[in-house]
Amino acid sequence: MSKKTYLLQDPETGKRAELEVRDGTLGPSVVDIRSLYGELGAFTYDPGFASTASCESTITFIDGAKGLLMYRGYPVNQLAEKSSFLEVCYLLLHGELPATDELETFETTIGTHTMINETMLRLFNGFHHDAHPMAMVAGVVASMSAFYHDTTDINNPHHRDIFAHRIVAKMPTIAAAAYKHSLGQPFMYPRNDLNYAQNLLHMFFAVPAAEYEVNPIAAEAIDLLFILHADHEQNCSTSTVRMAGSSGANPYSAIAAGIAALWGPAHGGANEAVLNMLEEIGSVDRIQKYIAKAKDKDDSFRLMGFGHRVYKNHDPRATIIREVCHKVLKDLGRVDSPLFELALKLEEIALKDEYFVEKKLYPNVDFYSGIIYRALGIPTSMFTVMFAIARTVGWVTHWREMIVDPDGRISRPRQLYIGPAARDYTDIDKR
Ligand code: SDX
Repeated sequence: MSKKTYLLQDPETGKRAELEVRDGTLGPSVVDIRSLYGELGAFTYDPGFASTASCESTITFIDGAKGLLMYRGYPVNQLAEKSSFLEVCYLLLHGELPATDELETFETTIGTHTMINETMLRLFNGFHHDAHPMAMVAGVVASMSAFYHDTTDINNPHHRDIFAHRIVAKMPTIAAAAYKHSLGQPFMYPRNDLNYAQNLLHMFFAVPAAEYEVNPIAAEAIDLLFILHADHEQNCSTSTVRMAGSSGANPYSAIAAGIAALWGPAHGGANEAVLNMLEEIGSVDRIQKYIAKAKDKDDSFRLMGFGHRVYKNHDPRATIIREVCHKVLKDLGRVDSPLFELALKLEEIALKDEYFVEKKLYPNVDFYSGIIYRALGIPTSMFTVMFAIARTVGWVTHWREMIVDPDGRISRPRQLYIGPAARDYTDIDKR
């Protein structure tokens, strides 16, 4: 079958560009515009990249209209119900679900690489006690490029594997160290007899002075939340990791760039912003006031946890998290959580408002996750850190795909220049 092409023609010069249309396995086709500038001398313009595919990928697929999310072809709701976070990590990194022995080996590899260099631990003492945990985590992850020179040959597959295992294994430990530093409490070392989520809770909440027993409800909820946050196609932070990595930068630095991008309230920082917003709203009778603010073009306030660049139907993760939220609160005896009640009411009212309906603004992954974290005793300032721990495997998977992409080259977009035309320098006494 002959290739499908789009034709573009410059009406003034008559120059034409024949652009190939390429189909993927699922989702929209792409128009290959790589020859456009050479043929027509013009760039495409797409601020925010809402209509731009930056790469080919085999990792995650999102259907925004159907509210569908799949990792390596497996619907996230099935993985949420049947899998574990480390099994999902294996699936993302290797492309296939592991056999029993493969999963056991992977779990042992991750479980025995959770400690961090003692000198890295001392870096936390350089932060003021009230430093935001995301600032500490971003800084310490960036410092890993100074500690692990032995495995940063990005063209060495074995180094890429060690990097992947190391960063996935150590993120909870780094996060816990940031949390303990903010509390002024001693750091708790990871334990090899605990699974990923149990270890995180142990490092967060155990103290040397007493025995600590991990709450299985909390561990199960965190493992599930991590599955739902593990990857999400070419989102802002993942694209940042790809762009930083495209220069050949140290992979730990690329992940640190992703952490920085995730921190923004328009992205992963939204889960923290949702809790702050719910606390500011305070009660059901004030909901309409804040919905009016969100609709007011002259007011910068947005309803945090609502809206998404891709999902124009329910975010499938939000639907699952809402159910988990209700179960966790019930299991923990917090079913009457005023914050959860307020969130449910806010969602109900917003989804009946024509502004939100017309703009297809539904709750996203960040709307309910913070309520669960809060119920588990995790402070609001740590919510985006939790997101970063989970998304690290997605960042690493995309980084690895980018490194070996035969079409891969340094990311270097162009621009539409609207600044001043050429002009000569004038001496200060003539200005
Ligand atoms: C994540 O990309 C990903 O996949 C991200 C993520 C992942 O897993 O990696 O899913 C995680 O980041 C989820 C999103 C978390 N952010 C928030 O909850 C913050 C609140 N949401 C908005 O900031 C916004 O909806 C975005 C950033 C999520 C999406 O922004 P877009 O796609 O650029 O949409 P937009 O800003 O152009 O909004 C379109 C319209 C605008 O109105 P008009 O200019 O057309 O009149 O909808 C309005 C916006 O003003 N709008 C909102 C709104 N979100 C969009 N109005 C009020 N409240 C909101 N939350």
